[in-house]
Amino acid sequence: MDYLVKIGLIENERTDALILPVLHDGTLTASGEQVDKISQHHLSKIIKTGDITGKFKQSLLLHDVPGIKAKRVLLIGCGKENELTEAKYQELVALSINTLKQTAAKEVCCLLPELDYKNRTPVWNIRQAIICAATTLYQFNDFRSKKNQAEKSITHLTFLVDKQDLAASKHAVKEGSAISHAMDNAKHLENMPANICNPKYIANAATKWAKSHKKVKCTVLGEKAMEKLGMGALLAVGRGSANESQLIILEYAGGKKSQKPIVLVGKGITFDTGGISLKPSTAINGMKYDMCGAASVFGALQAAVELALPLNIIMVIASAENMPDGDATRPDDIITTMSGQTVEIGNTDAEGRLVLCDALTYCERFKPEVVIDVATLTGACIVALGSQASGLLSNNQALADELLKAGQDIYDRAWQLPLWPEYQDALDSQFADMNNVGTGDAGAITAACYMARFTEKYPWAHLDVAGTAHVRQKKAYATGRPIPLLCQFLLDRAK
Ligand code: BES
Ligand code: MN
Ligand code: ZN
Repeated sequence: MDYLVKIGLIENERTDALILPVLHDGTLTASGEQVDKISQHHLSKIIKTGDITGKFKQSLLLHDVPGIKAKRVLLIGCGKENELTEAKYQELVALSINTLKQTAAKEVCCLLPELDYKNRTPVWNIRQAIICAATTLYQFNDFRSKKNQAEKSITHLTFLVDKQDLAASKHAVKEGSAISHAMDNAKHLENMPANICNPKYIANAATKWAKSHKKVKCTVLGEKAMEKLGMGALLAVGRGSANESQLIILEYAGGKKSQKPIVLVGKGITFDTGGISLKPSTAINGMKYDMCGAASVFGALQAAVELALPLNIIMVIASAENMPDGDATRPDDIITTMSGQTVEIGNTDAEGRLVLCDALTYCERFKPEVVIDVATLTGACIVALGSQASGLLSNNQALADELLKAGQDIYDRAWQLPLWPEYQDALDSQFADMNNVGTGDAGAITAACYMARFTEKYPWAHLDVAGTAHVRQKKAYATGRPIPLLCQFLLDRAK
């Protein structure tokens, strides 16, 4: 899909379809008024018939509107402008795209960014419309023998803007398309089943991508190399799997040499059965998505490279498959992490923190500016926050505030949970330095408490995306979150 912005008269727009908002009580926005005037009140007449009143999520497709060059006009009911929200705006973009997808329209011109709500600007609305349109058109058809009938029909999405907004809108288009490319790539990797997408598959994807990007270097460590580094925790997770664990490192040198890197760490469990602490059959489906953290840090890096951000960014993916087996790690086993700290395995299903703790120790060598890990870490985070917000825990309040703000700005929100030292006691072990699980209470917090013991040497934040990165149940799908949040954070840092 190509995205364009331009200045020009709406009546001269030679497009297959104009998407025009109709507000509560049939009021039109500026562009709608203009079309109405040129068409000798064709729109007002139709509104008068009552076929569209401007009620939220109504739609009406018109052909041959007089006086304009567009072949179709899609009227979209938007309700009261002062009752609009970012979520409702997304619904309106999705409705427009889904409606036009069923027509022969290829080139579409969208005027929804004219909507004025909650201090969001037309420029912001353009970027959001791009992300939302891409989300709506995304399909995963790799495993269908017959390609889906509703192939992406829309090829161009154009936005008309005021002259004073042109430059900023062009930026918005660049950002919006880089972010949506990143989300599409991540979702593709995430939706891929685990019989194909194993740790080596992710390593190959990273290697291949790095080869086509000059400023990016890729390093992959297999189990032998990780043994040498003493990564006993990461290796403990993959022991039961026929697929070799991998540590995958991408280094993007977009900034000055002297600039400390931002390090993004991703949980890449390509399938989480729970291991010997086997998950019940009701909880095991969808566990191919346990590598969403990995895919999203990979995506965020891809967006940063596409936008040529002047930053040094390093991505570290800790990838393994958590399977039960005769050689698998047992509950009660004691392992030694790369940091030297020992861990008693209370539950092999708390594997995310095990792969991450060694990856986080590995990060010390980069002398990072900050480290942010992204992980589908706990069911407890879903209980606490559902699918609206990612859980955020951090040992540095300035970093936490920066991430919270980035999430608010791009509307991919996180919510902070406390990392108070008092929670640490839950991890006490009878025989080792710590247990990998707490008492069951405050599960998202105790998971982060565990990782805090491996991140004392740098500012660190953890995003628990168990509830946000994918939709669970029968109609499961990957959402591409928290790529927007991560990208906004990087964009802000690049300023
Ligand atoms: N990958 C899961 C967390 C998860 C659960 C993500 C549901 C998405 C949907 C993680 O590895 C896990 O199993 N966590 C355990 C931790 C517990 C054993 C302390 C959990 O949340 O139950
Ligand atoms: Mn698990
Ligand atoms: Zn897991």
